[in-house]
Amino acid sequence: MISVPDSALVLLMGASGSGKSTFAARHFDARAVISSDQLRGALAGDEADQHATDAAFDRLHRWLDARLAAGVLAVVDATNVDWMRRSELVRRARQHGRPAMAIAFDLPLDLCLLRNAARPRTVRAAVIRRQHDELRRGLHRLDLEGFSAVHILRAEGDIDSAVVQIEKGPVTRAL
Ligand SMILES: Nc1ncnc2c1ncn2[C@@H]1O[C@H](COP(=O)(O)OP(=O)(O)OP(=O)(O)O)[C@@H](O)[C@H]1O
Ligand SMILES: [Mg+2]
Repeated sequence: MISVPDSALVLLMGASGSGKSTFAARHFDARAVISSDQLRGALAGDEADQHATDAAFDRLHRWLDARLAAGVLAVVDATNVDWMRRSELVRRARQHGRPAMAIAFDLPLDLCLLRNAARPRTVRAAVIRRQHDELRRGLHRLDLEGFSAVHILRAEGDIDSAVVQIEKGPVTRAL
């Protein structure tokens, strides 16, 4: 069971096609989820437009700060394979005195590529390969990054049978 304090920051991590957005939609209230792709889409009219990345993360950080300040759950749906991006998010949670947790989707590369190829919006295979490599390299040191809990889901079955329990805690105010 994945136990999530209701004032926490939850980082989803995984290559494109690993199922982060699907998992987020299944387990979390849509208002708690912030997606870098959606922000990119809102800013550039194209979810895949990498030029909008800096502006999208700028927005993402501001949204995250607002939720962390309010003491309500915040789920960041981005690949989060870059440890510098992760450390920036964890730093913000710490600043607000909130726990940060990681849920990593460590699926086989071939499965990510297969799923990606079946989507209307495809990401280049080379990009997915690079994200997958970066995720794998980072996984063994996740415990050193300041997370209160780390969950690594390694197979489709683990993901499909995952149970997420939101734990009620003291809340300062609702958004
Ligand atoms: N548990 C699952 N079982 C079967 N198919 C799945 C599962 N999770 C996701 N998929 C399928 O895989 C594809 C990719 O899923 P999703 O969009 O959630 O990935 P993502 O990690 O959010 O990718 P991106 O980083 O590009 O946004 C989708 O077509 C989705 O329907
Ligand atoms: Mg997604």
